[in-house]
Amino acid sequence: MGTLTTRFGFNLSVLLIFAGVAALAQTPRYNLGKTATPEEIRAWDISVGPDGKELPPGSGSAMEGAKLYAQQCAACHGATGEDAKSSPRLVGGKGTLNTPMPIKTVGSYWPFATSIWDYINRAMPRNKPGSLTAEQVYALTAFLLYKNGIIQENDVMDAKTLPKVQMPNRNGFQPPMPDIVQRHCRTGTCP
Ligand code: HEC
Repeated sequence: MGTLTTRFGFNLSVLLIFAGVAALAQTPRYNLGKTATPEEIRAWDISVGPDGKELPPGSGSAMEGAKLYAQQCAACHGATGEDAKSSPRLVGGKGTLNTPMPIKTVGSYWPFATSIWDYINRAMPRNKPGSLTAEQVYALTAFLLYKNGIIQENDVMDAKTLPKVQMPNRNGFQPPMPDIVQRHCRTGTCP
């Protein structure tokens, strides 16, 4: 009997939960939050794609970036970018990706130079993200590209030059799972 009551009680509570969910689903107005303003959307809409068309005005070279790097980045990423202790190594590793000990850095692994700009702009320095100006981000990106042997020290990076930089691992990424794409094609639904 006790078991029955327990089972009945459990079933009843499950029923009540479903009833509650159903009642909620029928209530279309929550009156929560507000529509984002164009300014608010702009503040979040900072993604920069491979072609760099979202890059802002401004420019910088490795020479300017070196000073900023020493002041704002070296404490975590190491003075040369190769000697980081607790943070990712930012320099080196070119040609190691196909070896048993691959060293993945923004220079050796990342396919697009514009992603370095985007990353620094949104996330670094880690203790003060969003504090750098566009000019400073261009200079720091140039500095990391230079230290990785990808551009020259005097090369100026801006919205036009940065997307043209050829990264060593540009063609190292394959479309995901080509076998699955083919299998679907055989059933008539090619993506
Ligand atoms: C307080 C420590 C700290 C400081 C200062 C800092 N970083 Fe970082 N950085 C990190 C950590 C930790 C990561 C790994 C991602 C994470 O945990 O946020 C990272 C990741 C990165 C990456 C991506 C590396 C990868 O391969 O994924 C780049 C690029 C980078 N930082 C650049 C910079 C630059 C440029 C500066 C100076 C403006 C800077 N960081 C300052 C700690 C720091």
